[in-house]
Order: sequence, then C-alpha cells, then structure tokens
Amino acid sequence: MTQTEGQPQGSATDTGRWPSREEAWAFMCEWVQSESLRRHMRAVEAAMGAYAARFGEDVERWRVVGILHDFDYERHPTLDQHPQDGARYLRERGYSEELIGAILSHADHLALERDTPLKRALFAVDEVTGFAGAVALVRPEKTIATVTPQSFKKKMKDKAFARAVSRDDMTHGAELLGVSLDEHIQIVVDAMAAVAPELGLAGVSAPAGAPQEGA
Ligand SMILES: [Fe+2]
Ligand SMILES: [Fe+2]
Repeated sequence: MTQTEGQPQGSATDTGRWPSREEAWAFMCEWVQSESLRRHMRAVEAAMGAYAARFGEDVERWRVVGILHDFDYERHPTLDQHPQDGARYLRERGYSEELIGAILSHADHLALERDTPLKRALFAVDEVTGFAGAVALVRPEKTIATVTPQSFKKKMKDKAFARAVSRDDMTHGAELLGVSLDEHIQIVVDAMAAVAPELGLAGVSAPAGAPQEGA
C-alpha cells in the first residue's frame, strides 16, 4: 500500500501516516459511545500531551496515541480481542506502525517490550488517569485540581478502593519513565486539571446560601 499523505516518518520502513488529533478524535467517537470511555481517552490524551512536552517529543502524535489506545474496547472488550483487533482496523486506515505498536504495547497480556518513551508513557499514564479521577470523585469538592500525590498515595494503600487498578503498574510506570511517583502523579493530575470540565472533574460548588447538611 502506498501512502502519499501524512507526515514524514521516523523510520524508513514505517510508511504509515499519523492522523491529526481531530481525525483521531472523530474516529474514536465512531467506535466509542460510552461517555466514560471517551473521557478516559481524553484524560490519557491530556497526560500524553504533558509528557510529550516534557520529553521534547511530538505533542500531537502522543495525544493521538492517547485518544486511540482503547478505541476498540467497547466493541472488542476481551483480552483475545483488545487491542489486537483494533490494530487491524488501524492498519486498514494506513496508520503508522509506530502508533499501532505503541497501542499494542499497553496490553500486558501481549507482553511486548516497552522500548520507546512513547510506549512507556502510555503504559505509565493509563491506570494513573483512572485512579486520579476516582480519587477526585470521592473528595467532597469532586475536583481533580485538588488531588495531591499525598491524597493519591493514601488511596493506593486502601486496598478496597478502585481495587481493579494495579498499584504495581502505577509504581512501575513511574519507574519506567524515570520520574518519582509523586512527580508522576502531579504531572498527570495537572494535565487532567487543565481539561477538568471535559472530564466531569471540575468540581461541585454548593449554591450560595444552601443549607448545611443536617440543617
Ligand atoms: Fe486498553
Ligand atoms: Fe486505557
């Protein structure tokens, strides 16, 4: 297949193209109807953008990986399908193998080496965004902006809280990126806070003059 559109690729053997952020978002929304899954993609996008900027990488490409990483999950949710079935659809669209490889590598069951900063960042932010959102929602003000590394780590120690999220994965992700866990949490929280209204994590404010609880 010959690709004539798109941007130059980093690898001579990778003839695929990178979609724009706009194209990626529209394509993901065709596949994902769930508002919460779209928000997950938005959160991972924001965190990926933050890390791309920090590492001097291509911000739009990293954001695109965040947007697309779970695009097939709603239709192909099982381990024998996600994300490998999705990869097939991305190849049909002529997308870059660098993009597809990064998406495939976020799945532990495929046991692929996370041998690029892009792959390591996707793995590192995937679970942390979800956990940070869960921490925000149990706070009285329900806002991501006030989640701190301290409050986040306190919840990590609470085994009953968001029990599906692997604590080891979050810790390991920070190590892979070469940042402390505190720094990692703060980078992800700040990135999510910048788009908090889109994530439903901008907080609630009591109406002025509202009676206090129990009044
Ligand atoms: Fe996934
Ligand atoms: Fe994900």
